[in-house]
Amino acid sequence: MSEKILLISGSPNKNGTTETLALKAKVFLEARGYSVRLFSLAREQFYACQGCQKCMQDSFLGRCIFESKDNIYSLFQEMLILRKVFFFAPIYFYHLPGRCKGFIDRAQSFYALQQRNKLNALPGILKAVLVAGRPKGNKLFIGTELTLTYFASIFCLSVKVCGLRGLDAPKHISQQVEEKVFSFLSI
Ligand SMILES: Cc1cc2nc3c(=O)[nH]c(=O)nc-3n(C[C@H](O)[C@H](O)[C@H](O)COP(=O)(O)O)c2cc1C
Repeated sequence: MSEKILLISGSPNKNGTTETLALKAKVFLEARGYSVRLFSLAREQFYACQGCQKCMQDSFLGRCIFESKDNIYSLFQEMLILRKVFFFAPIYFYHLPGRCKGFIDRAQSFYALQQRNKLNALPGILKAVLVAGRPKGNKLFIGTELTLTYFASIFCLSVKVCGLRGLDAPKHISQQVEEKVFSFLSI
């Protein structure tokens, strides 16, 4: 059976730079025999975490008030099993887009379980491809990398980041950019 990879596109922008690049990566990986599930936040109706903290309470520990209302809870359950997750996201104001952060905050219910040693996962990897419009800036990816590191650690995934600069639209995805991303995902 082919290895399954979860590919998350964290952009709110349908057919934008991030989603376009994620689709190219999906084609690339499938051609190499992987089974890829692309989960694009731009195409999902989901609730952002509203910080109610119910998931931290003993009587509701590790659960979420939205768990049966959208697909995020079951996606996170999958992230505990799959040991290869690829995460694509654009940089908005030096961080993840707000909607994507709302998605990440939903992992608080899993964090609650992890804090009480109630999560079991084998070590794995989360490879993040971050897309920035600005051609320069050595701090462009710092905030996002920190957030992703703590998010991924809940699922026992360590983070590797590939930061791409100067990509403001799908038309800026050159062959060189594609090759850089494919080689990053392949290592
Ligand atoms: C609200 C907003 C904020 C942005 N902030 C930054 C930024 O801080 N640094 C940067 O390099 N590019 C920034 N950009 C440019 C995007 O990173 C770039 O256009 C990217 O290709 C967008 O990807 P998308 O089409 O998937 O949304 C911003 C774009 C938007 C819409």
